[in-house]
Amino acid sequence: MTGSQAALLELRGVTTGYGDVPVVRSASMAFEKRLVTSVIGSNGAGKSTAIKAAAGLLRVWSGQVLVSGADVTREAPHLRLSRGVAFVPQGRIVLPEMTVRENLELGAHILGGDRQRIEETIERLVRLFPVLGGRMRQLAGTMSGGEQQMLAIARSLMTGPSILILDEPSLGLSPKYVDIVFEKLRELSGTGLTVVMVEQKASRALSFSDRGYVMHTGQVVYSGEAEALLANDNVRRLFLGEVPEEIRLMVEGEVADA
Ligand SMILES: Nc1ncnc2c1ncn2[C@@H]1O[C@H](COP(=O)(O)OP(=O)(O)O)[C@@H](O)[C@H]1O
Ligand SMILES: [Mg+2]
Repeated sequence: MTGSQAALLELRGVTTGYGDVPVVRSASMAFEKRLVTSVIGSNGAGKSTAIKAAAGLLRVWSGQVLVSGADVTREAPHLRLSRGVAFVPQGRIVLPEMTVRENLELGAHILGGDRQRIEETIERLVRLFPVLGGRMRQLAGTMSGGEQQMLAIARSLMTGPSILILDEPSLGLSPKYVDIVFEKLRELSGTGLTVVMVEQKASRALSFSDRGYVMHTGQVVYSGEAEALLANDNVRRLFLGEVPEEIRLMVEGEVADA
């Protein structure tokens, strides 16, 4: 790993958890500008907990969270957002009874943007997500899972973040859409966005990433270039043997949709 100077977002020795149970222990991760970084590891490893701490959604017990070198460990979540850190929660949460446009506008109002800026941002996002273009008046809940994930991502881009953190963006999507979502995230990083994604589809996610972190029982156990992780025998044997999607969905009580 290169020095953490270029990191847009950094966890330094972060420990956190729920109640008095520590879940993430002394985790250090650096997310560098314009790169796609995947955080992988088995179910319950603490991946979601770590990125929630990074996004300011969970109190950090010890250690630090830095955005562009500034210590934001004790800052409220909305301040994290105004520093350009956006979070897309697991489960492609959109408001189903609202239109695509209303969902997008809601994304902007979190930061209170003016009308013209909102319209310009929607236009820009429609160019990035052509699938949303003809659907501005469609109710979000009537779109396919993959389309809803695109909308969830687009909505989080309404605030013009510099870093986008996504929790399992591919969960429950059809195989075709898994790649479409990963490709879109790569494309976004090409526009200057820094992308961090937690993923269970580890090898697939790494193949679209520049860097990766592997978590196991709350700790970072491997990190490095995505290519090196994909080639690492231990990582392959221990973390890249993927549970078939159908089994995983059964365990997690999710239903796959297209
Ligand atoms: N809201 C919560 N309250 C209590 N325990 C939680 C909560 N969320 C997660 N956990 C526990 O923390 C551990 C790590 O969870 P999580 O960070 O979601 O793992 P991962 O995202 O790697 O699957 C698990 O043992 C899980 O049961
Ligand atoms: Mg998780």
